[in-house]
Amino acid sequence: MEITLNVNGTDHRLDCPERTLLVHALRDHLRLTGTHVGCDTSQCGACTVHVDGVAVKSCAMLAVQAEGARILTIEGLAADGTLHPMQQAFHLHHGLQCGFCTPGMIMASADLLKRIPNPTEEDIRHGLEGNLCRCTGYQNIVAAVQAAAEKLRIEKGG
Ligand code: FES
Ligand code: FES
Repeated sequence: MEITLNVNGTDHRLDCPERTLLVHALRDHLRLTGTHVGCDTSQCGACTVHVDGVAVKSCAMLAVQAEGARILTIEGLAADGTLHPMQQAFHLHHGLQCGFCTPGMIMASADLLKRIPNPTEEDIRHGLEGNLCRCTGYQNIVAAVQAAAEKLRIEKGG
């Protein structure tokens, strides 16, 4: 079937089977391979993207269900060539080791800060429970999210 997906601000028309998952539409049809697949049980969060501003696991959603929505992937998070504060914070605080979980962690973390601008460590750990890091770099991930939260609060004058 033919569907149109708005990804990172651009409409893309694609022809895919009805049961195509959003993650496969992004990776296989649109070649946006920054969104990863780490499991087949909706457990790992490596496939996290934003749909209408909310973090979702793109392996748990059909592509057709995302028609008409604004989809944001890790490739679209930087604005005008400047990394998003969350990307900068992961870089500065070494919030990654192999990097496999990182796109999903960053997308989930960016959504977390929209909901909880001033999170405690517990808020962050709880908010990222659906994202698994096989390298177990959680300490630095938490530090990165805290740093990004502080930067965003300062930018907003809060
Ligand atoms: S690939 Fe989607 S949760 Fe693991
Ligand atoms: S950095 Fe390797 S899985 Fe998280």
